[in-house]
Amino acid sequence: MRSIPTALILLVCALSSASKEDERQTCRNIPGSAGYPTSAAWSALNKTIGGRLVKVVPSAKYCASLPGGACTDAQWTSAVFRGTIPGAMNTVNWEQGYDLSPPSLCLRNATTCGQGDVPIYSVEAQSVVDIQTAVKFASSNKLRVVVKASGHDWLGRSTAPNSLLIRTTGLQNSSFTEAFFIGTENMGSAATVGSGLPMGVLYQRAKANGKIIIGGTAATVCAAGGYLQGAGHSAVAPIFGLAADNVLEFNIVIASGELLKVNSISYPDLFYALRGGGAGSWGVIVSATFRTFPTFDVTYGVIDLTASSNAAAGALAAIHAQHMFDLEAVHGSQYSYYTSANINDALFQSDDSVGNDMAMGSRLIPASAYRNAPATFGKMYEELLDAGTFDRRLVGARTHVYPGAHWVLGQVAANINVSSAVNPAWRTAKSLLTLGNFWTDQTPLADVNVLRRMFQTTQLPIVEQVTGPNGGTYSNEADVFEPNFQTTFFGPNYAKLSGIKSKYDPEDLFIVPLGVGSERWDQWGLCTV
Ligand SMILES: Cc1cc2nc3c(=O)[nH]c(=O)nc-3n(C[C@H](O)[C@H](O)[C@H](O)COP(=O)(O)OP(=O)(O)OC[C@H]3O[C@@H](n4cnc5c(N)ncnc54)[C@H](O)[C@@H]3O)c2cc1C
Ligand SMILES: *[C@@H]1O[C@H](CO)[C@@H](O)[C@H](O)[C@H]1NC(C)=O
Ligand SMILES: *[C@@H]1O[C@H](CO)[C@@H](O)[C@H](O)[C@H]1NC(C)=O
Ligand SMILES: *[C@@H]1O[C@H](CO)[C@@H](O)[C@H](O)[C@H]1NC(C)=O
Ligand SMILES: *[C@@H]1O[C@H](CO)[C@@H](O)[C@H](O)[C@H]1NC(C)=O
Repeated sequence: MRSIPTALILLVCALSSASKEDERQTCRNIPGSAGYPTSAAWSALNKTIGGRLVKVVPSAKYCASLPGGACTDAQWTSAVFRGTIPGAMNTVNWEQGYDLSPPSLCLRNATTCGQGDVPIYSVEAQSVVDIQTAVKFASSNKLRVVVKASGHDWLGRSTAPNSLLIRTTGLQNSSFTEAFFIGTENMGSAATVGSGLPMGVLYQRAKANGKIIIGGTAATVCAAGGYLQGAGHSAVAPIFGLAADNVLEFNIVIASGELLKVNSISYPDLFYALRGGGAGSWGVIVSATFRTFPTFDVTYGVIDLTASSNAAAGALAAIHAQHMFDLEAVHGSQYSYYTSANINDALFQSDDSVGNDMAMGSRLIPASAYRNAPATFGKMYEELLDAGTFDRRLVGARTHVYPGAHWVLGQVAANINVSSAVNPAWRTAKSLLTLGNFWTDQTPLADVNVLRRMFQTTQLPIVEQVTGPNGGTYSNEADVFEPNFQTTFFGPNYAKLSGIKSKYDPEDLFIVPLGVGSERWDQWGLCTV
């Protein structure tokens, strides 16, 4: 329900508390509620899980507590370092409570610091039992739960105010086999991967085993966390399909606290949902088993095209669009980025991989758009870049529009009949266009709020010249203000997913913004609406 402005939410609450609907509204327990656990209860939980309950603070506050009173720039921007901070999100804006009343912020090196959208406690899980204990504690005490592996989420789904965090970062086991069985059927070579294992480490371990898995471009995104539940695109997706197409089994702790082995013959409905039905809505994944493929050498090339103006960049984009299918025969994949920048900025290589503020928006671009109207792409890119210039004037030099595209089709299209919740828009898409709107701690709050909504207000109408209205997109790389997320993210699968949700999570323990069932809750997942 993030699309509804705060004022409207307050109004709805005020109206409903005066009506008979009153009894229907339920809220989870937060500090100060009668049902919130006492400190003795928290201590008892801590003992049960071997002392792995920690107090959570925003990353800026954590940095302030270090010797010297600050993090270095290298630490602040390092996803590996941030992964050691339970409260850290890699795109830092998700730690900020912009929509709380009053806003609760914790900016880097600031003298004051609010808790923002950061949880209160974290269970730093090392075992299945830790997870089961945390889930049962949360459900019996009616707590808001969030689950985090890497903290990379671009919709802020791995953090929430007043919540108990269950962090699976510690689950980094992996094992490889040449013969993985579902029942009596041999599915061939596969890897079982802990939900906290970073992609980069997994690539290395797979290589040591002579294998490749379907993974993304980041070293620190977790292969068996949010990436997989969203769909998981990859440079090798045109050859092998999406990550969700290649998953064989999950071990997951559901809301009841039970550990389930989920595959095509055991809880097949939940298996369907976990493959593309959205991150964080189904339970806490302990591990997932993926198909692996023999590794191979690739030819890898980088081509930089530089244009002297937005109009020239648009013309380049149109030529590129005309040649979209040239690499189809070899299942070639590409990533391309069109950035509006000063020539000096364009030549400058920054290592600021994370630790910035950014709001994303995206659309899957149907292959038919490239076939039918490649010239429209030039117009779209030029207009998007021009809109970026507007951003820079608005809020300062570091803000820019960052349209990138990841190319698909090939095996992704061929997997159309795989039974999964993957948005069918993936099967006919040639690319995923993602836009990022950036800001800094110095950006005035009013401008931040303009930028957070820039995709819906300014960019989506430009993109829709190419996609048409009611397009689909990738739930993991998207705008948290999408008004019709049920169809935009899940296409025709939402009703079926809702049914599976009520079966495995009848009390809505696992609610994330724009996830299945989230329409029943406020934007923080704290009270039903
Ligand atoms: C630098 C970068 C590069 C990326 N590249 C790609 C790419 O190439 N391809 C691609 O498809 N995506 C890519 N992504 C997007 C990525 O898929 C999402 O950010 C994804 O949500 C990350 O999942 P995570 O579990 O690592 O992150 P988290 O922030 O920890 O979690 C994301 C979501 O998954 C849930 N979750 C996490 N762990 C668990 C668990 N154990 N059990 C249940 N739910 C869990 C969380 O609750 C949250 O909803 C990229 C992201 C970044 C930041
Ligand atoms: C949990 O116990 C450990 C070990 O005794 C302790 O270090 C930690 O501070 C405790 N956590 C909380 C939240 O009190
Ligand atoms: C915060 O402090 C550190 C250490 O003094 C410094 O390196 C960094 O540039 C500061 N950053 C900001 C945004 O103030
Ligand atoms: C990881 O592997 C070790 C050794 O095989 C095992 O003892 C442990 O239980 C595993 N942990 C998880 C979380 O699977
Ligand atoms: C998918 O299934 C339909 C209906 O059975 C069939 O007509 C189609 O050829 C299949 N497509 C692929 C790519 O397997």
